[in-house]
Amino acid sequence: MCGIVGYIGKREAHSILINGLKRLEYRGYDSAGIVTIDTPSNSFTAFKKKGKVADLEKAISGKSSKGKIGIGHTRWATHGEPNDVNAHPHFSPSKKLAMIHNGIIENYSSIKKELISKGHKFDSETDTEVFIHFIEHIQQNNGCTLEEAVRLALTKVVGAYAIVILSKDQPDQLIAARKGSPLVIGIGKNKEEFFIASDATPIIEYTREVVYLNDEEIAVLRGNDIQIKSIKDIELTPYIQSLDIELEAIEKGGYDHYMLKEIFEQPRSIKDCMRGRVRLKEKKIVLGGIQKNIDNLINAKRIILIACGTSWHSGLVAEYIFEEFARIPVEVEYASEFRYRNPIINKGDIVIAISQSGETADTLAAMELAKRKGAINLGICNVVGSSIARLSDEGVYTHAGPEIGVASTKAFTAQLIVLTMMALKVARYKKTITEGHFEELLKELTLIPEKVRKVLELSTAIQKIAEIYKDATNFLYLGRGYNFPVALEGALKLKEISYIHAEGYPAAEMKHGPIALIDEEMPVVFIATRDSSYDKIVSNIQEVKARKGKVIAIVTEGDALLPKMVDYVIEVPNTSDALMPMVSVIPLQLLSYHIALMRGCNVDQPRNLAKSVTVE
Ligand code: F6R
Repeated sequence: MCGIVGYIGKREAHSILINGLKRLEYRGYDSAGIVTIDTPSNSFTAFKKKGKVADLEKAISGKSSKGKIGIGHTRWATHGEPNDVNAHPHFSPSKKLAMIHNGIIENYSSIKKELISKGHKFDSETDTEVFIHFIEHIQQNNGCTLEEAVRLALTKVVGAYAIVILSKDQPDQLIAARKGSPLVIGIGKNKEEFFIASDATPIIEYTREVVYLNDEEIAVLRGNDIQIKSIKDIELTPYIQSLDIELEAIEKGGYDHYMLKEIFEQPRSIKDCMRGRVRLKEKKIVLGGIQKNIDNLINAKRIILIACGTSWHSGLVAEYIFEEFARIPVEVEYASEFRYRNPIINKGDIVIAISQSGETADTLAAMELAKRKGAINLGICNVVGSSIARLSDEGVYTHAGPEIGVASTKAFTAQLIVLTMMALKVARYKKTITEGHFEELLKELTLIPEKVRKVLELSTAIQKIAEIYKDATNFLYLGRGYNFPVALEGALKLKEISYIHAEGYPAAEMKHGPIALIDEEMPVVFIATRDSSYDKIVSNIQEVKARKGKVIAIVTEGDALLPKMVDYVIEVPNTSDALMPMVSVIPLQLLSYHIALMRGCNVDQPRNLAKSVTVE
C-alpha cells in the first residue's frame, strides 16, 4: 500500500521518479506526487495530484525540474480522503524538509495534539505531515543533525513506516528508514547513484545490486556512500544482494492488461514453481528451503496456515490436501483474526504463512505472534527477499514471477503447487500415502501446465458467457470438496475487479440460506468436475434449476450429463481431485477478467484496492 521511490545521483531525477511510480502504481493509485531539489538554488520543485500517476504527469508537463535528487509517492489513502493536499510528499513547517511515507503512524493524533499546542498548523489530514513536523520539531529542540532527529522520532512513533526524507539544507543526501513496510535500496555503479523503492521493480532497469532495509534501520545515502544504522544508533554493514529479475517480467509483453498476461503465464509459472523440485525420474520431491524442518513437519501435531484473501483460499485447498494425504490436522486462519485472539499454539505446531507479496501486515503480525508463542514459522512467498520470507525460519518461494495485476492469479496456482509438494513430501515420509499413489500424483502434477494451457484456449468461449452475464448484479459460486475454496476464489475475483456482488459457498450449504436468493436473474457458477462429490453436486444443480436459476458449470471434459442440465458449460481436462483447483480456477479467472473489461472496469487497478496490503 503506497509506493515510494527516491533517487540521488548524476541523472535528472524527474523521469526516474515518474517511471518508478508507474511501476509501483499497483500499490495504490489515489494520488501521486514528487519533489526534487533544484541546484544551484537548492529549492524544492514539488507536484502533487489526486488520481493516477498519468494525471500527475499531465499536470507536470513542460514544468519538470532538472534536479538530480528527489522522492516520489503513489498513495493508497489511509488518513484523509484522496485529494491534492493529502497527496505526498508532505513538508515540515519551515518547508525545508519533505517526506514520503508508506504505512500508518498509530499514535499520530497524540503527537499532533502536542504539536498543535506548540503552535503547529497542518495543511493535510495525514499522519505523514504530523510525522515530518515532529522530526523538524525534534531537530530544532535538540539542535541535532537531521539523521539524529529522524532516529529520535522513530523511537517515539508507534506503527508502520517506510519513509524517505529530503532536506533543502543537505541537497546531497537522502535519509530512509523502515519498520513494517518494505524498502529496497538500489546501488548504482561505483556507488555513484542510489535508488530507493518499495520493491525492486523501479530499480532493476538501472541496477541489480540491492540492499533490503530491515525493520528499525535507517539508511543515509550521500555522494558515493551508503551508511546504515539501527534505530539504537549502531552502525551496520549493508548486505548487498544481486537480483535475478528480468525487465520483461514486469512489463505487459503484448497483453492489454497485466492480469491477462499473468493468467496466460500460468502454464509457465506452474512449471517454474515445480522446476528442480518435482523429480519424476527419481520419484521424489525436493524442497531445499524447508529441509531443516522436514522432521518437525513430519512430526507436527497440527499445522496452522495463516494468510489473507486469495492466499487464504490456497490455504483452504491445502487443508484438504494435508489432511487427506499427510493425515495432519490443519487449521486455516485469517491472519487478521488469528493475531488478535490469543490463539493456542502447542509445542510441535507448525505455522505456515502464505503470501504473494510477502508484505501483508496482518500475516506478518500473525507470524510474529506465532513466533513469540514458540511455533516454527515456514513461509510461502512469491517475492524474494520480502519481509515474510525473511521472518520465516525456512520457506519455499513460489517462483511465479512478479505479479503486478492487483487481482491475484498466477500466485494462487503457484501457492497450490508448493502446498501440494509439501503435503505429498510429508505424506511419503510418514507413509500415509502408498508409493503407487505418490508416483501417480507426481506424474499428474507434471501434466498440470499442459492442462492449464488447454483451459486458456477457452478464453473466447468464456468471453461469450461473460457477454451474457456482464450486467448481472449478483453471482453465486458453489463447489464441494476441493472445489469449495475455488468457489470462494471465483467469487472474490469477480467482485474485486467487476464490482458485481458475488458469494462463494459450499454447494450443500446453499439450502441453509443462499437458496432464497435464486430466481431467473441469478447466475450460479457451479464448479462441478467429476470428483468424489460429483453425484452430490449434480443434486445441488438440480435444486437451483428447479428454482429457475441460471447455471454456468465448470465440468470435466466428456461429462455427458451436466451439459444437458445446465445453461452453459465450460469443460476442463480431468486430473486428480486434489489437483483440480489448479485447473478449475482458470475459467473463473478468465470469466472475471472478461466481465470486468466489458463493464469498463480497470482490471489491473480496481477501485479502493492495492496489491500489497501493508496496513492492518
Ligand atoms: C485478491 C488478492 C488479495 C490478496 C491478499 C493477500 O485477488 O490479491 O486478496 O490475496 O491481499 O495478499 P498476499 O498474498 O500478498 O499476502
